[in-house]
Amino acid sequence: MKTILGIDVGASGVKGALVDVKHGKLVGERFRVPTPKPATPSAVAGAAAEIIDFFNYQGTVGCGFPAIVKNGVACSAANIDPSWIGTNIETTFGQIPGIRVLATNDADAAGIAEMRYGAGKGEHGLVFLITIGTGLGTALFYKDQLVPNTELGHLIWKNNKPVEAYCSSGARERLKISRKEWAGRFNEYLLHLERLFSPDLFILGGGESKFFDVYKELLTPQARIIPAQLLNNAGIIGAAAFAAENE
Ligand code: BGC
Repeated sequence: MKTILGIDVGASGVKGALVDVKHGKLVGERFRVPTPKPATPSAVAGAAAEIIDFFNYQGTVGCGFPAIVKNGVACSAANIDPSWIGTNIETTFGQIPGIRVLATNDADAAGIAEMRYGAGKGEHGLVFLITIGTGLGTALFYKDQLVPNTELGHLIWKNNKPVEAYCSSGARERLKISRKEWAGRFNEYLLHLERLFSPDLFILGGGESKFFDVYKELLTPQARIIPAQLLNNAGIIGAAAFAAENE
């Protein structure tokens, strides 16, 4: 069995687990370290090192990171410390002997996991995975190929703000609106994406996907809409799968 350590860097926690990359399953428990505040590169590298140490791991590590990631470098910082911009995630986390880190956007990682092993398995058309959490992350697939770093949570929306400020889970909490009102807003966003991309399928992931049954009737795009299957583990599993495919 080939196992790779997957690490998912989130706004509140840095989580890791060993992943069986053939089957897309966790091997044993997850280990979580609270995201340091401020989440500067050296502080988050410390959290990643704790996870690597916990698993007593050597080898390739996959990392899902909440920013645009190009060739291992963070190129944006919407929900993390701005000092990440221009920082190479792979070399910052990979200072430990015997460790090589491969990094990708967190929503792209979750999308890889759902497409390979979860809700999107066998779907070969145009598929959007949207992670609904502190921000809105998007992963776009066409014929099983990922178009990386789509960042459609940053479409400029009403009031000239990114749409994630309008209908992410973080926005729902900040604005103290009901889940029903939130779903109306999120539906507007889905209709807009549908108008632009004509997807066959939307897969909804992230924290809000747990409540899918509560709001699914309020979503009206023509495309099919289904909840993610790997829930909290998608980011970790997809990070490991990304590393396995790119090592
Ligand atoms: C970031 C994306 C990330 C998403 C989910 C957005 O604010 O710009 O890179 O995928 O949040 O974490």
